Amino acid sequence: MHKKVIKAASYIKDIIGDVPQIAVGLGTGFSKFVTRLENPISIEYGDIPNFPHGEVEGHINALIVGTIDGIGVLCLAGRIHYYEGWEMQELTFPIRVLKHLGVECLLMSNASGGLNEDYVKGEVLLVKDHINLLPGNPLRGKHDERLGLRFPDMSDAYNMDLRVLAMRLAVKMNIDLREGVYAAMQGPSLETPAEYKMLHIIGADLVGMSTVPEVIVANQCGIKVLVFSIVTNICYPPENVQKTTIEDVLAVGNESADSLSDFLVDFIKELNPRLQNKDEG
Ligand code: HPA
Repeated sequence: MHKKVIKAASYIKDIIGDVPQIAVGLGTGFSKFVTRLENPISIEYGDIPNFPHGEVEGHINALIVGTIDGIGVLCLAGRIHYYEGWEMQELTFPIRVLKHLGVECLLMSNASGGLNEDYVKGEVLLVKDHINLLPGNPLRGKHDERLGLRFPDMSDAYNMDLRVLAMRLAVKMNIDLREGVYAAMQGPSLETPAEYKMLHIIGADLVGMSTVPEVIVANQCGIKVLVFSIVTNICYPPENVQKTTIEDVLAVGNESADSLSDFLVDFIKELNPRLQNKDEG
């Protein structure tokens, strides 16, 4: 694994030169964030040695590097999922490559079902914690200490400093940004009303089919994580559950994408000076 990571990272570095400290992982329906990048350089996932690449509706499949207000940002546009048949180690490989390149913060987005009565379609929440209900863990198997700790702590998996920064920005922008717990299910079938109810009861606010493996690996290798989740369908209480198609999910995601992109752009502008100060200090 370590050698494969080095090979992929060198391929990327040879093309992009300076590597940004901030990466953005774009989830379902959110790929139009890449239009916010100035001077973009795009590398197809398929061209990067050992990089997993899939084809899911609504996703581009490329690593795109550009700037926002002069700040370097690396976008992973196109995420692969467990339900496509990938192994946990494969689908989290890009996170290991980001670490090797020197990325410090990973900002991610995903689409989710909302498990609280007062959530509204299109609302964006900040993920504060997760419940991993996927049938596996990306750190399972023989341990290689070059990749991080065998038993990484997960008590601050969704980095508190980044969440505080996001909350302060939301207050400044007059946005009511709520926090929630994200449960990861394997999919690809959506959940039944009884399953949604169970997820609500065990303490989940949001349910989706992604992100958690990447968050685990990012924590193991020391990348700080912040995750935004777009509620694309209402799943609780059971009588409010409606039939949902991928087109519905993409349409709602797409409607929220502009405002979430605005927020992310401002967030990156707030975050960058803090990363620079840390480097100087
Ligand atoms: N379940 C799982 N994943 C999802 C959902 C859902 O209801 N909505 C968007 N992603």
